Amino acid sequence: MSRLVIVSNRVPPPRERGQLAGGLAVALREALAGREAMWFGWSGSHAHAAATAPRQTRVGRISFATIDLPTADYEGYYRGFSNGMLWPLLHYRLGLAEFRREDLAAYRRVNEAFAAALRPLLRPDDLVWVQDYHLIPLGACLRRLGFAGRVGFFLHVPFPPQAIFGALPQGAALLADFDAYDVLGMQTADDAENINVMLAEAGHGVRAACFPIGIDPDSFAAEARTAAVGPEAERLRGSLAQRSLILGVDRLDYSKGIPLRFRGFAQLLKRFPEHRNRVTLLQIAPVSRGDVAQYRALRRELDELAGRINGEHAEFDWVPLRYLTQTVARTTLAGFQRVARIGLVTPLRDGMNLVAKEFVAAQDPADPGALVLSRFAGAARALEGAIVVNPYDPDEIAEALHIALTMPEAERRQRWERMWQAVRQHTAATWAKSFLAQLAAAAAELPAGAVQR
Ligand code: G6P
Repeated sequence: MSRLVIVSNRVPPPRERGQLAGGLAVALREALAGREAMWFGWSGSHAHAAATAPRQTRVGRISFATIDLPTADYEGYYRGFSNGMLWPLLHYRLGLAEFRREDLAAYRRVNEAFAAALRPLLRPDDLVWVQDYHLIPLGACLRRLGFAGRVGFFLHVPFPPQAIFGALPQGAALLADFDAYDVLGMQTADDAENINVMLAEAGHGVRAACFPIGIDPDSFAAEARTAAVGPEAERLRGSLAQRSLILGVDRLDYSKGIPLRFRGFAQLLKRFPEHRNRVTLLQIAPVSRGDVAQYRALRRELDELAGRINGEHAEFDWVPLRYLTQTVARTTLAGFQRVARIGLVTPLRDGMNLVAKEFVAAQDPADPGALVLSRFAGAARALEGAIVVNPYDPDEIAEALHIALTMPEAERRQRWERMWQAVRQHTAATWAKSFLAQLAAAAAELPAGAVQR
């Protein structure tokens, strides 16, 4: 079996390498198990010199190779172009995008630096799998350095239609970079369609296909079962005093629709007063990308909004909205999701949204909670049993919450059953396996004896 080489901006930090735990790491757990692999990315440290040799450590059959990046380059690449320009653009939020030519230059420099450090470590029959929007040009950089082996790319976030992508300065060059990949993966059929129209119009040969990412449903369900009787979940249950829990879990990101979600909850309390003092919304939103201006502005907005909603609606024995910006351990979250009566997932745009799938996996099959889900999350395609809402309409969110809070148990069970089937159909393992099968097959398509590229 060929060696698998994963390339991503972030790599699991050393303390998590023995037992892979983060989002992407969980998704790749099965693909990495039982084969030789390398994971390449940024070390998390800054270098003073322009280029550094990769540092390599090995844990079992996975070797981790990381490079430091010069502070100024990293700023332009990560904070500037990746998260100040590409992230809002790819999430259909042109009004929040900020373009600077020097950021784009840094983005290209960092991709070149990744390629230069990675190239000497590669063997001809490796399967190289590049992850996400930080590294779109990486494949083309590797080709320029003479790598002719198989390279695939997966975009974890949405891909917008031409009318939006067209606003990206020098977007044609970025689009051309996709042509270096043998396999191009998107989360949904809509994303694939959007990019394929543009690739075809620009005369590029590559076409994207859809590979919906998932979770490891059985292990998450088991984790939730255990955590739901653990000390944190017990404390949470005790503090609710029989009230129904509505739970939101997101990075503190403007794509997640948290302010409109809060307004939707406030509308619930106004328009359906029977729920007053009977429900609690717990929003867990760990601070993310706090050095990007738009994220700081969002945090200020939420601080104010949460204070105002509680000021208006709280009673002397009840605080309707609990809002946390700290990180909560994954296992604890799994337990909380099982305690919750409603999972509230209302992104304005989201590649997939694994929290929705985790909520489903965490439920007690005998008495499952209901999921209120944005139609603009990739997950809405598969999770037909969810109560699907337009996240831009707080009144619709309020109505969906009311429906969920009053839903008979039989209907909850029926809806949950359909969602659980879907979560088990498209898992992390099927995602990685189907992508890698296509990537492995890419070489087979070359005529015998052909010199690759
Ligand atoms: C999204 C992106 C990932 C990214 C993650 C956390 O899920 O698709 O590529 O790693 O957010 O964001 P951060 O900027 O902290 O890496």
